[in-house]
Amino acid sequence: MKNALITGITGQDGAYLARLLLDKGYQVFGTYRRLSTPNFWRLQYLGIFDRIHLIPADMVDAASIISAVNISQPDEIYHLAAQSFVGASFAQPVSAGDITGLGVARILEAIRESSREIKFYQASTSELYGNGNSPPQSETTPFNPCSPYSAAKLYGYWLTVIYRQAYGIFACNGILFNHESPVRGLDFVTRKISNSVAKIALGLQDRVALGNLEARRDWGYAPEYVESMWLMLQQPRPDDYVIATGETHSVRDFAQKAFAAAGLDWEEHVDVDQKFLRLLDVECLQGDPSKAKRLLGWEPAVKFDDLVDIMVKEDMHRWQRCLAGEAFPWDAPSYPSDARILTRAIGE
Ligand code: NAP
Ligand code: GDD
Repeated sequence: MKNALITGITGQDGAYLARLLLDKGYQVFGTYRRLSTPNFWRLQYLGIFDRIHLIPADMVDAASIISAVNISQPDEIYHLAAQSFVGASFAQPVSAGDITGLGVARILEAIRESSREIKFYQASTSELYGNGNSPPQSETTPFNPCSPYSAAKLYGYWLTVIYRQAYGIFACNGILFNHESPVRGLDFVTRKISNSVAKIALGLQDRVALGNLEARRDWGYAPEYVESMWLMLQQPRPDDYVIATGETHSVRDFAQKAFAAAGLDWEEHVDVDQKFLRLLDVECLQGDPSKAKRLLGWEPAVKFDDLVDIMVKEDMHRWQRCLAGEAFPWDAPSYPSDARILTRAIGE
């Protein structure tokens, strides 16, 4: 039986990847942060919470990362932990660098010191491309990061390449384009929309405020994307791969389609609020996944329309269950209205 260590197992990808690896017969270990309130709802929601070994560790604490590697004795490490919300990285640029950038150095050093046989997956991102590159973006497109988040990820990307070349570690970058699901964090625009659509359809809310409606993303389905992570570590040689659908759609398209899925007209319910505009935003991401198709045999089945339907249906279903008095692990009921989350002074 193989051992896998997943950092960030409490997040969207961590939970889906844990389920995939359990299904493949792995013994799965995952790191989590000690918080004042437990944060295991995704693992519970997917029905795998009791099958995972949990190790407390923080990406800013090298000792805890070394312990996690020693305890789990992994054959493969999937490094997913990060402060992953681009918007927040402008407000917390130093911790973005520490957690998301230097965290990669800490874990690669732990591998170098303990066993160079451990295979390593780094959660790289399409945010690395930033602006100024005409789509589609591939493995050879130059990087041009536009946020503290993507600057930190750029460091992690290159460190992964450097440890592969300098120490011969089997280290891969998955350059994943946006991928979403019903367990996506509520901060991100797709889930913010699907959750709002469900609440509006059920009379629990009237309007939702968004920022840049023209931004375009290549949105795929997270359970399919975690499969590519595993595939990368099963190849004869380590390499870097773009994972994407090859399509691009705007935030406006997403809102329109999501409201329509609930029989609503998006223009009657969506406001644009400056508060959600980023200081710098990536305008258009569209990936070219042909290398992954050719070498990994990976191809996405769920495209934009199906993704929107899956997310809206699941949020509708959960709010209906909640209104019927059912209790189940879920994030939305305890999330504040984002009108009450301030990133600038009131009126600024
Ligand atoms: P996510 O849901 O935000 O999960 C992030 C995970 O990192 C959570 O488990 C979180 O723990 C953990 N974490 C945050 N700060 C930490 C710290 N200081 N120490 C230890 N753990 C910490 O993100 P995701 O969507 O699953 O993404 C997984 C990875 O892929 C991230 O690195 C992200 O940047 C990258 N990525 C994501 C996408 C995408 O579209 N989803 C695309 C490209 C790359 P808590 O639960 O305690 O917060
Ligand atoms: N979050 C959010 N909230 N974004 C909004 C909103 C809003 O109300 N209104 C418009 N947007 C726009 C953002 O400005 C951005 O252009 C786009 O919607 C997508 O934003 P997010 O869903 O927050 O995702 P992201 O593209 O910034 O980052 C995600 O994908 C990256 C891969 O490209 C994250 O998962 C990153 O961790 C990941 O690396």
